[in-house]
Amino acid sequence: MVKRTPLIAGNWKMNFDHLRSIAFVQKLGWTLKDAKHSSAEVEVVVFPPFTDLRSVQTTISSDKIDLRFGAQDLSPFDSGAHTGDISGEFLAKLECSYVIIGHSERRQDHHETDEVVTAKTLAAVKHGLVPVICVGETSEDLEKFGAAAVPVGQLRHVLEALPADAEIVVAYEPVWAIGSGQAATPQQAQDVCAALRATIAEVLGADQAAATRVLYGGSVKAQNIATFMREPDVDGALVGGASMDIDEFSAIVRFPQHVTTV
Ligand code: 13P
Repeated sequence: MVKRTPLIAGNWKMNFDHLRSIAFVQKLGWTLKDAKHSSAEVEVVVFPPFTDLRSVQTTISSDKIDLRFGAQDLSPFDSGAHTGDISGEFLAKLECSYVIIGHSERRQDHHETDEVVTAKTLAAVKHGLVPVICVGETSEDLEKFGAAAVPVGQLRHVLEALPADAEIVVAYEPVWAIGSGQAATPQQAQDVCAALRATIAEVLGADQAAATRVLYGGSVKAQNIATFMREPDVDGALVGGASMDIDEFSAIVRFPQHVTTV
């Protein structure tokens, strides 16, 4: 059985200019170092806005901070007449390790379809970035189809286009749980994460399914992270609001210390 290193990811969305990002990354680095955090035990990734990435890269590298970072989106194209878009090639040059793809806010605000999400995922893989593929149902979907059908369909669309050995991360984020303070229950998260893993097994094979990290996202806080991390198919969290508070986010990262006590 492959050991999957837990992954705690902070999606800052459209928050923090580059100066605030630098200060945050430095402070987070010191806090985790003081707490003797090891990225071999729990990997930590932050997703700043595009305009902060260069500053975050140089801060992490010059201060030797034990953190990884990624972008919140990328273009499906490599270069050319696509005003305002950012190529995966540029992100790879900035030493981004990851890129979030298909976040529900992009699916909603920018009308990103499963086809677009698939094209972006292929672009990420091509440029050596690990895509964090976001899937999740709205409250209407939940009522009509139950929790798993929509996220499973969204993931299957992407997986069917992927090379079988591509490294990916999947994030299950029920739209109704994002920013609402109403997280899914650990059992709901487990059920959908297990269904997503079964879909990976079906399309890409059992080894890929066993190696792929599936995250839960939606109103994750220090006070509920441990309950999610106890579930066998939840390998980490994609955190929004709580990832912009040093104490809260570092407490989420240090979940193994409170996993048995909550
Ligand atoms: P919240 O943690 O603020 O609910 O946001 C989750 C999210 O959308 C992360 O991508």
